[in-house]
Amino acid sequence: MHLKEKNMTLVKTWAEPYKIKMVEPVFMTTKAQRKNAIKEAGYNTFLLKSADVYIDLLTDSGTSAMSDRQWAGLMMGDEAYAGSRNYYNLEETINKYYSYKYVVPTHQGRGAEHILSQILISEGDYVPGNMYFTTTKLHQELAGGKFVDVIVDEAHDPENMFPFKGNVNLERLEVLINKVGADKIPYVSIATTVNMAGGQPISLANLKALRELTNKYGIKIIHDMTRVAENAFMIQQKEEGCKDKTVAEIVYEICSLTDGATMSAKKDAMVNIGGFLAVNDPDIHEKAQNMVVVYEGLHTYGGMAGRDMEALAIGITESVQDAHIQARVGQVHYLGNKLQKKGIPIVKPIGTHGVFLDAKKFLPHISQDKFPAQTLAAELYIESGIRAMERGIVSAGRNKKTGEHNHPNLELVRLTIPRRVYTQAHMDVIVESVYNVYKRKNAIKGMEMIYEPKYLRFFQARFKKLKK
Ligand SMILES: Cc1ncc(COP(=O)(O)O)c(C=O)c1O
Repeated sequence: MHLKEKNMTLVKTWAEPYKIKMVEPVFMTTKAQRKNAIKEAGYNTFLLKSADVYIDLLTDSGTSAMSDRQWAGLMMGDEAYAGSRNYYNLEETINKYYSYKYVVPTHQGRGAEHILSQILISEGDYVPGNMYFTTTKLHQELAGGKFVDVIVDEAHDPENMFPFKGNVNLERLEVLINKVGADKIPYVSIATTVNMAGGQPISLANLKALRELTNKYGIKIIHDMTRVAENAFMIQQKEEGCKDKTVAEIVYEICSLTDGATMSAKKDAMVNIGGFLAVNDPDIHEKAQNMVVVYEGLHTYGGMAGRDMEALAIGITESVQDAHIQARVGQVHYLGNKLQKKGIPIVKPIGTHGVFLDAKKFLPHISQDKFPAQTLAAELYIESGIRAMERGIVSAGRNKKTGEHNHPNLELVRLTIPRRVYTQAHMDVIVESVYNVYKRKNAIKGMEMIYEPKYLRFFQARFKKLKK
């Protein structure tokens, strides 16, 4: 059953379609404690202890609240090593809501990215996509590929109000195909929604046109479907001709336009751990089944317990309900609109899984090489115990050839909202805290990186505050 109401729009008053049955206490620390904690963490919010955090906006990944049904699902776990009934239930659910025929479970999204990249990419290949994602791009590179950004230009401009900043620039893609040859492009990598652009959606029209173009050249589309329901909601709200479709219908249509997918089930599908890869091609499926036993586990559980597969199947069903997704995105927009009213520079239009502060505008006196977004995330933590994540020069890593920092246009701090976890009052506290930092922004200095790990440096890098 899809709970679609005709008049659900982003501007109407909404309320969460659930009531709270269990709570987890959170505690506020003192400013002195927080100053000490962030210094010990090398000014990297990933290295803070969760006990030292008041409102945790680091990520929406694995941090959502499961429903009573999902918790009940955990008790239905069939922990057989082979052929667990939960696997078949998950496969059926994925087939029903996402259209894909074959499923290989993995421990989380990057497990699926690893297997799919190794199967499809050869040394010297190009992988065009609608902006990079950190783990996705790394696995494409480790398999010998080169990621090429073919997202529309609007996506790189935080002020541009284009509603579908996740769209692919089809002309740029065709130029690349003609330049390197279709046989050097194993697939186009499409994310719904685009995380690094601020949670921005791709339109159905663009995806259909992309399907036509890729069909012409015999190129596959692989779908990073981590937040596909959120993308579908934005299509329902903003794309012409889509307002009478349910989110579930749009999700199915998006998936049907692609050849396969990798999924971090920790986001849309509201489980604490899990993921999968799903494809329609039996040959790719066979190869994936063979690889998963090397890196994750047997092909009917991959990296997941039976109980987790059951909770995931239920989470998928809940994630495509209109009432759920409206409240989820509605809360993000509530926060974004309030921040905008205070004059805080954020990425526009507001995306679906978080609000992204524009650190270049917030701290214009700090040059990108002094890590303004990293600095802002640390300051927000010191202010009130709110933990956010850098999505700028640190996340973008270094140029493989020159060894220089990549300099992305977007230098952002992501305030990511876990699903069904925080209340509107928490959103108000976040607004007040960000505004307090904004008022003292001129006194904030940048930082220097003092430790840099080889892969995905944003997770473990350490920093030192600059004196001037
Ligand atoms: C768009 C996107 N793709 C892939 C991933 C990787 O998934 P995981 O963290 O489950 O490995 C993430 C996680 O943050 C993501 O946001």
